[in-house]
Amino acid sequence: MPTRRIVDAWMETHNVRTIRFDFRDDPIDFKAGQFIVCKDEFRGYKRPVQRAYSIASTPWQRDFVDITIKRELPGLMSARLTEVPVGYEMEVTGPSGKYLYDVDRGKRVLLLGAGSGITPLYSIANYLLEGGIEGADVMMYYSVRTPADIIYESQWPKMVSDFPNFKFHLTVTRAQPTEWNGRHGRISADWVRETAGEVSDAVSYICGPTAMVGAMEDICRQLGLPEDRINTEKW
Ligand SMILES: Cc1cc2nc3c(=O)[nH]c(=O)nc-3n(C[C@H](O)[C@H](O)[C@H](O)COP(=O)(O)OP(=O)(O)OC[C@H]3O[C@@H](n4cnc5c(N)ncnc54)[C@H](O)[C@@H]3O)c2cc1C
Ligand SMILES: NC(=O)c1ccc[n+]([C@@H]2O[C@H](COP(=O)([O-])OP(=O)(O)OC[C@H]3O[C@@H](n4cnc5c(N)ncnc54)[C@H](OP(=O)(O)O)[C@@H]3O)[C@@H](O)[C@H]2O)c1
Repeated sequence: MPTRRIVDAWMETHNVRTIRFDFRDDPIDFKAGQFIVCKDEFRGYKRPVQRAYSIASTPWQRDFVDITIKRELPGLMSARLTEVPVGYEMEVTGPSGKYLYDVDRGKRVLLLGAGSGITPLYSIANYLLEGGIEGADVMMYYSVRTPADIIYESQWPKMVSDFPNFKFHLTVTRAQPTEWNGRHGRISADWVRETAGEVSDAVSYICGPTAMVGAMEDICRQLGLPEDRINTEKW
């Protein structure tokens, strides 16, 4: 099994960290939306523990892979990945997964994400935007519990100002009115209609807690998207 070294790491929020694995000796080839599997030894466990993490960086960057991990309490691998120092090595396999984006699926994309489920959508959005893919139209809706839970917070305004074909919509579901000036409440079909207009020609990618994924599938149907253009990862 190939071992990969962590060459950089930074906190995204109070309990979410991004780590960067070195792939310079064997550049990775993957599709936005796919995941890698991290495998490591834990005291008290006879076999190595393995967990999947969506690749947050883009296929344009083949020398390094970023993953963004939310620490679960209690949680084995997420605790390790949010704590280990730069320089740590572990087994990494992949890429894997059929939840993936390719331009032949459509260049008008509706990305519906919640919490740490934003990670594969961040890769898909940046793949289209950084690649300067002609005709790309990226509509992102992101739901978080509180303002302290916004992952990639400093990146969103940059992406909005760099790319006129990127529309970013953020909503917060558990903040007091005094804590948050922006939109409150879950992602709804009405909100998407009001902000994006007609989207029935788009291809959608959904990622987040299981109940949210089911609710977003229904919203996509209400918005007129056919089943074969509604992409989800269920696990
Ligand atoms: C395709 C795919 C992509 C993914 N991408 C990401 C990603 O990009 N970012 C990300 O953060 N996660 C992602 N995940 C989730 C990730 O794989 C792990 O499931 C997650 O990090 C938790 O793993 P863990 O080992 O820390 O927790 P585990 O130890 O497996 O615990 C899992 C859950 O069980 C609970 N639990 C554990 N032990 C107990 C106990 N004794 N009593 C009560 N409850 C307990 C924990 O609180 C936790 O909620 C992805 C999963 C898949 C399948
Ligand atoms: N590739 C993948 O498959 C992949 C990658 C990364 C992460 N994930 C998964 O994504 C999930 C993210 O969890 P999290 O703990 O970070 O999220 P979270 O903080 O629990 O929730 C994030 C947001 O989702 C909203 N939400 C929850 N249920 C909803 C529903 N039924 N309809 C509409 N909105 C709903 C929440 O609103 P409320 O506050 O109103 O509940 C909240 O705003 C995890 O299960 C993680 O493992 C999957």
